[in-house]
Amino acid sequence: MADLRSMDTLVSLAKRRGFVFQSSEIYGGLGSVWDYGPLGVELKRNLTDRWWRSMVQHRDDIEGLESAILMHPRVWEASGHVSGFNDPLVDCKQCKNRFRADDSRLKGTPGEPDAQCPVCGNKGTLTAPRQFNLMFRTFMGPVEDAAAQTYLRPETAQGTYVNVYNVMQAARLKIPFGIAQIGKAFRNEITPGNFIFRTREFEQMEMQFFVKPGDDEEWFAHWREARMQWHQDLGIRAEKLRFHEHCPDELAHYAKQAEDIQYEFPFGWQEFEGIHNRTDFDLSRHQEYSGKRMEYIDAESKERFIPYVVETALGVGRLLLVALVDAYQEEDVEGEKRVVLKLHPSVAPIKAGIFPLVKKDGMPEIAQRIHADLQKRFRVFYDDGGSIGRRYRRQDEAGTPFGLTVDGQTLEDQTVTVRDRDTLRQERVATDQLIGYLAERVVG
Ligand code: GAP
Repeated sequence: MADLRSMDTLVSLAKRRGFVFQSSEIYGGLGSVWDYGPLGVELKRNLTDRWWRSMVQHRDDIEGLESAILMHPRVWEASGHVSGFNDPLVDCKQCKNRFRADDSRLKGTPGEPDAQCPVCGNKGTLTAPRQFNLMFRTFMGPVEDAAAQTYLRPETAQGTYVNVYNVMQAARLKIPFGIAQIGKAFRNEITPGNFIFRTREFEQMEMQFFVKPGDDEEWFAHWREARMQWHQDLGIRAEKLRFHEHCPDELAHYAKQAEDIQYEFPFGWQEFEGIHNRTDFDLSRHQEYSGKRMEYIDAESKERFIPYVVETALGVGRLLLVALVDAYQEEDVEGEKRVVLKLHPSVAPIKAGIFPLVKKDGMPEIAQRIHADLQKRFRVFYDDGGSIGRRYRRQDEAGTPFGLTVDGQTLEDQTVTVRDRDTLRQERVATDQLIGYLAERVVG
């Protein structure tokens, strides 16, 4: 058994099987923007549904919200993103390439004669670092002037902060409570890459938990553990996961304490979720910039305070990448290479492949009836093309946990062979028991 060794292998599998395509490919592609194909959208939906169920539907203290991508431009002044959401950049005056100042390929001191451009190799052509804001600017309405300028949001969190008391009152919540949101965010990243790891348009699953000041550290510890457990419950191997605590110079402008959950990708350990103690920074700033009171009043004690926020922030694309990388296995089965995605059955795009062993003796008709029945409850796939071995292999690569084969014995006793993707064990299950069999195993 072997893990994924190179991202190129995954990128090509993702394209061939319809998980992820390069955006605008026929025009040569668009830098670091990707599209999700038929299997990719199913996997993405299953991951976001699983997160939503655990955050919102299975709890009484967290409600959902979907705020707009476009917000009042003052939001981004208040949040600190206009002044503080910057990367220091270096330009090469010769070849016009642009680099992050902390790019490990840069040699020497940018702005000085000794600095060497990693692309054209010239010396003394790199500028001193300059601040570059990562927000995408756009204009609202017909006039493109400063008054009409706003931004595509770089995080969903601000939409939650400005709505906190709308949600609290509508849902009759009391502190501590949370608001969860899934939505797109945009960042004009300078060094995007590693497939869907860092992209300019991406989706986040963020939850803001509002607590009494003083209770924040305890809640931070709670969410840190809960989030790590969630990834392990999804089947991500524990030895590939670790925490990384931010030291003071890594902390975002809003955070008092932050820990990343990192995964060991083929390109090294990298963050895919952050847990942040944002204190009362955001709500205090919105109070200051909007002139509206952002205080919470405790109904019993009549105490007033601006709540502290503990945030969990997970990228959908990054989680999907973690799920794919972790699931990818190459195995030797009877002298042949088998590529299999051992995705958790609850998130696998297709739950079962349905195969007539041969295209005769009424087997296709029975298989199609089973397919039509199961399709009412699950995403399943009918396939009668090629040898049964090849059909199994195609579903292994798609991460399908079960293969159901209609064979000679089905005609006698109305059972099918059920093949388990991971163990390759086969058992016989009565056709009228298949819905229950799958429900028990694939519902997350
Ligand atoms: N609201 C806090 C926040 O946005 P972050 O650490 O900047 O915090 C949270 O982002 C998560 O969003 C990251 O852990 C990552 O999964 C995802 N993310 C951030 N930038 C991304 C990008 N350029 N491409 C893909 N995912 C990204």
